[in-house]
Amino acid sequence: MIPLALLLSAAPVLSSALDFSTPADSSKSQSPSLVTRGEGFIRSPLNVLPNPSPPKLIKGRQNEVTIQNQFTGTRYGVDIEVGTPGQKLTLILDTGSPDTWVNPTCDTANVPDDCRQFPAYDWRKSSSLNATRVTDILVYGKGNATIQYVRESVKIGGATVKKQVIGVAIESHDIPMGILGLSPPLRGVNEYPYILDTMKDQKLINSRAFSMDLRTVDSPEGALIFGGVDSGKYIGSLAKLPMLARNETPRGADRYYVTMTGVGLTYPDGLVERSQELEVPVFLDSGGTLSRLPRPIYQAFASSFSDTQYDPSSGFYFLDCDVADLEGSIDFYFGNKMISVPFNDFIWHVQGYCVLGVLPDDDGEPVLGDTFLRAAYVVFDQDNRNLHLAQAANCGSNIVAISTGADAVPSMTGRCTAPPPRPTSGNNNLDVTAERGPTATFTGIGPTGVDIGPGPVATRVSGTGPLGIVPTGQSGAGAIRIKWWTIVTAGIVSLLI
Ligand SMILES: *[C@@H]1O[C@H](CO)[C@@H](O)[C@H](O)[C@H]1NC(C)=O
Ligand SMILES: *[C@@H]1O[C@H](CO)[C@@H](O)[C@H](O)[C@H]1NC(C)=O
Repeated sequence: MIPLALLLSAAPVLSSALDFSTPADSSKSQSPSLVTRGEGFIRSPLNVLPNPSPPKLIKGRQNEVTIQNQFTGTRYGVDIEVGTPGQKLTLILDTGSPDTWVNPTCDTANVPDDCRQFPAYDWRKSSSLNATRVTDILVYGKGNATIQYVRESVKIGGATVKKQVIGVAIESHDIPMGILGLSPPLRGVNEYPYILDTMKDQKLINSRAFSMDLRTVDSPEGALIFGGVDSGKYIGSLAKLPMLARNETPRGADRYYVTMTGVGLTYPDGLVERSQELEVPVFLDSGGTLSRLPRPIYQAFASSFSDTQYDPSSGFYFLDCDVADLEGSIDFYFGNKMISVPFNDFIWHVQGYCVLGVLPDDDGEPVLGDTFLRAAYVVFDQDNRNLHLAQAANCGSNIVAISTGADAVPSMTGRCTAPPPRPTSGNNNLDVTAERGPTATFTGIGPTGVDIGPGPVATRVSGTGPLGIVPTGQSGAGAIRIKWWTIVTAGIVSLLI
């Protein structure tokens, strides 16, 4: 993991240091781990976090390259500071839920030791804490958290968001890290201003939009850019895809849903197979380690690889780790845009196993998780309800701020060039209509995941009640009601607020 101190001690770089109008030359391109704050955008590095347990070799045929991969590519962390003075924390980046909260309960995390290596927020040491009496239970695809809301200063990528409402966990289960939630309000209306809303209100960014670049499993250099787009991180055009309206999504939750129109594979020998035209709503979820797709698609992918072994208890398809080294890809189509995910990025390397990066979607919420997002550059534009997608690459940095209005996201062509095409031949024979069974069954004990899956929607239970946190020196008598918030004044005026 990249040391926290290294990332957070870098001084903010002002916009004058970046020339947006002329092509960046290499002397001006940003070091990938630099925290950057420019006019109208905030850049924050993303860390690829290690797998929760040390890898154990279980079978032969593993090589050193594979072992390297086992440490990477399962979770994406964002370093932030909370409170005054700032306390450094690492949160999981989640585009599938809107709430940001800290301090998971490590004793009841599925991977307690992993959880304990991350620092926790100590509210007693912050002068900018403003606690509320509101509590909430957030239920995720995997795990849940009972939180108390507070207003705090949150520093991300060199910018300080003041009085941001975040949760502090009183108790959580099966979640090893706090969560930075960046989805729209799932039920269509804000329950309170989320981080993107506050960034816009406080004029740190012009539009509620951010871009995400997870990078490949072998590269720890991803970034999140609030209010900006980096054309040095993708190939060709950004395809503008409308987000599905809330009532068009499978379960009525407003998430980053778009329509996927086909899937396919490019085999190492150059054969390109494609499905017939599809119309599958899928949402882009950085909190999902794997993708979850309709069963026929999942089975079609699995049966396209030889020697897969199906694990009935987890639904995983295990495959030979050598496959990850082959030149081939899993392809996703969105109208005219194709995003191809190299085998190496689509395969989840975990605890000595190689798992095909897809599970069946049995909850009716198809997800493209990290196994897809590693290959895509994505701009999430909440204000205009569009997602912009391109094939991710890395050829320097040229960050342009997103302005306001319908065409706020600049339609810049990516500066990276595609590798020369390999000779290919194609057909439309990938059958994703038939259900088919596995040919071989896995009989070992599979890995433990850290997938948090889609965040709270209908299951959220809110309440006000006695709390874990009461700021020192306050009696509660001075409580005032603002909307549905009951604010407990801390009695300490911070210089930052
Ligand atoms: C949270 O998860 C734990 C462990 O799975 C479970 O016992 C508890 O009932 C869950 N709480 C809620 C509110 O879902
Ligand atoms: C806490 O929030 C309330 C309501 O916004 C405000 O009146 C009060 O001054 C705040 N206290 C501090 C210490 O910032």
